[in-house]
Amino acid sequence: MKVTYHGHSVVLIESNGKSLIIDPFLTGNGQTKIKADELNVDYILLTHGHNDHVGDTVHLAKQNNATVIAPFELATYLSWQGVNTHAMHIGGAFQFDIGRVKLTQAIHGSAYVDEDAKKIVYTGMPAGILFTAEGKTIYHAGDTGLFSDMKLFGEREKIDVAFLPIGDNFTMGPNDAVVAASWLKAKVVIPIHYNTFPVIEQDPHAFVSMLSKETEGKVLGSGEVLEL
Ligand code: NI
Ligand code: MN
Repeated sequence: MKVTYHGHSVVLIESNGKSLIIDPFLTGNGQTKIKADELNVDYILLTHGHNDHVGDTVHLAKQNNATVIAPFELATYLSWQGVNTHAMHIGGAFQFDIGRVKLTQAIHGSAYVDEDAKKIVYTGMPAGILFTAEGKTIYHAGDTGLFSDMKLFGEREKIDVAFLPIGDNFTMGPNDAVVAASWLKAKVVIPIHYNTFPVIEQDPHAFVSMLSKETEGKVLGSGEVLEL
């Protein structure tokens, strides 16, 4: 499995000859180098409805005839914009041809904000993701604060890689993410959701240095690949 980090919360996974992108906020994301027009994906997997996660989803889904996997309310909202969707919800898992997706809880909000119309469309509960393929499990926490059920994930899943937000302000900051990492017992922890906006500026190397010896922290630059 090939996993590429594209800045903010954007993670591209290639496995079983298919590709899936998580939270494709590309246009307007100063941390990413890829352009929506150049990207070929089979699946788009969304954690929640905030604009810095939905990003280019509709454009990408139409351009690639890709399937959008999202929590039910968000999937429904996007289906009304003419894209193929597969709705799921927290606690549920489904085996796709690229791998198994299970949605977990996340402690956050979920809404699409239309700045021009000054309208907020609420899109249900936010989620985290457990993705399993080729015998490896990836946890993408989405946007979340620290919650103690992460201990359960650590007990019940063998997590190879965990993508954890460290930006603070909207999500966990570095100190809480260190606790999350210890509870999740992930082999490798990769910080995400930092330095995109002034209020979430963090030093990812300082975060990695705070992790316990059992956890390997890895700072991935934008476009950097991890082979699993
Ligand atoms: Ni958010
Ligand atoms: Mn966010």
